Amino acid sequence: MSDVIEKINAEVISVYPNKVKISVDNLEDFRLADESLKVGSYLRVSDNDNVVLIAIIENFSIEVNDSGAKKYLIEANPLGIIKNDRFIRGGDSLAIPPKKVEPATEDEIKKIYEHSILQTEKFSFASLSSNLNVRIPVNGNKFFNKHIAVVGSTGSGKSHTVSTIIQKAVSEKSGGFSLNNSHVVIFDIHSEYESAFPDANFIDINNLTLPYWLLNSEELEEILLDTGERDNYNQSSVFRTLVTENKKKYNAGNTKIFYDTPVFFDINEIMNALINLKNEIKNYKASDHYMIIDDSYTLVDGSTKIDSGIRLNEEQRLLKYFDGELKFHPTKGQNISKGDYADGTLDKFSVRFQAKIIQNRLDFLFGDKSKKITFEETLQQLLGYTKDKETNVTVIDLSGVPFEVLSITVSLISRMIFEYGYFYKRLRTKKNATEKINNDIPILLVYEEAHKYVPNSDLAKFRSSKKSIERIAKEGRKYGVTLLLASQRPSEISETIFSQCNNFIAMRLTNPNDQSYVKKLLPDTLGTLIDKMPTLKAGEALLIGESIILPSIVQIDPCRNPPSSNDIPYWEIWKEEWKLLSIDEIKMEWYK
Ligand SMILES: Nc1ncnc2c1ncn2[C@@H]1O[C@H](COP(=O)(O)OP(=O)(O)O)[C@@H](O)[C@H]1O
Ligand SMILES: [Mg+2]
Repeated sequence: MSDVIEKINAEVISVYPNKVKISVDNLEDFRLADESLKVGSYLRVSDNDNVVLIAIIENFSIEVNDSGAKKYLIEANPLGIIKNDRFIRGGDSLAIPPKKVEPATEDEIKKIYEHSILQTEKFSFASLSSNLNVRIPVNGNKFFNKHIAVVGSTGSGKSHTVSTIIQKAVSEKSGGFSLNNSHVVIFDIHSEYESAFPDANFIDINNLTLPYWLLNSEELEEILLDTGERDNYNQSSVFRTLVTENKKKYNAGNTKIFYDTPVFFDINEIMNALINLKNEIKNYKASDHYMIIDDSYTLVDGSTKIDSGIRLNEEQRLLKYFDGELKFHPTKGQNISKGDYADGTLDKFSVRFQAKIIQNRLDFLFGDKSKKITFEETLQQLLGYTKDKETNVTVIDLSGVPFEVLSITVSLISRMIFEYGYFYKRLRTKKNATEKINNDIPILLVYEEAHKYVPNSDLAKFRSSKKSIERIAKEGRKYGVTLLLASQRPSEISETIFSQCNNFIAMRLTNPNDQSYVKKLLPDTLGTLIDKMPTLKAGEALLIGESIILPSIVQIDPCRNPPSSNDIPYWEIWKEEWKLLSIDEIKMEWYK
């Protein structure tokens, strides 16, 4: 034996596939000079310097033996090995039992993260929480081409994180041009993002124009029909016929017009026709004779009496009914009867219909502009390709959209962008059959408070948006349309959508339901990392997914221009002088 016995301060006492136990005699001697050891710190375990096992501390405990001496026990979770200067996840090429345990150096930790991703693919928006000198890049391709979920309680930093990510995505360039080719559409339900993206294509209720005629049948019926009503079948079959016929009227050259064909129809003409059907009077003896008061028509039986009516076939009749509100001869005399729908079944429907389409609040959908806007203009507006301004980011401020049409508004916009991706791919493949990158203008759709559009609920009022977004969740990637969902209530988000997310940014989450829901979705190899979720600071997050080498607790970089907060500083405002209130103006806004 040698005279000098090297004092072993720390040693591995047991090795399991997912755990290493380490015993430490003196913690002071064990830690690196200027760093403290804590849960989450990294250790290196090795016998020689060619292979180093990196493990992350999960817990500490103290053991006191019979003679009163203290020993520290550390349990750590092995993450992977560093071999030939490269970090490899997992790996069990460690000789057992390894002897040497030390805290990992900053350089080694950097090796794990910074060398794990090719320089050109690095997208970086966070640092390691336990050592801010270590940047945590993600693989930008894997990050954006899979769906992303950002979850956390209010105030945990979701909106700031979303802003940071998009601001960085928009400013990154590979050449000397001014506008790069990133494309982001943000659905902003709380008016937060205008301040974060001052150069964005900003759309709110005042300049949003959506054509109602691009709504699909479900969306149209959701807003115009009373789903719960007894007469619903009648309503919807009449409505379908009218829409289809009116589409044919306006698209005479197109032989393939169906109810759902996305072409123009005139909603006011549908309303005229509904009113006319509701008031219709027919000739009892000749059922194709309609008792319309109209001087311009020669009466069929003009020679005898006026109330034999105007003879119209089915098509002529609807065309005439579209034109305007008609007057009918009063129901008197034997040879007169009410029309098929004049029995009251359409009464409520037509009142409701009228109320909807003349409302100022729904002007963005049913107003004059919605009739005039073309398909192309609608898409240009949504994608930031407007003539006078091209932009990377489009912010759609939904705060002014009435609640009853929020779902179909989100649905229509999402669906149009998805279908853009679909048809763009088709076009590209047609032009070049060997095309590999099927969309050179891929888009990220960002939904703030996603549980409001895609809840775990089958209620009719969420049906449209849920369906459209679920479709993107399932198929969007193929067409270059991916999702970023932010939510404070992950347990209330549709599971179909959530389970399609591959990258998670889990911020502080305090609600136990939400915690356990998120845990269920995440890989169970995370160890105790996930238990940190309730204790994270603002801006701290557990970053997990295919785009990152290791699940890690990170500190998200602060954003350049912050989103505006909805927090009202009560205390400060209350201390101010009494404020005047213009109830008149409020009323005007209210009654709009
Ligand atoms: N990355 C960050 N670094 C430091 N502070 C942050 C960070 N992200 C958020 N915060 C702070 O946390 C607060 C809440 O952030 P916010 O993004 O509005 O949260 P949420 O959208 O989850 O409600 C903000 O006032 C901000 O100052
Ligand atoms: Mg927020």
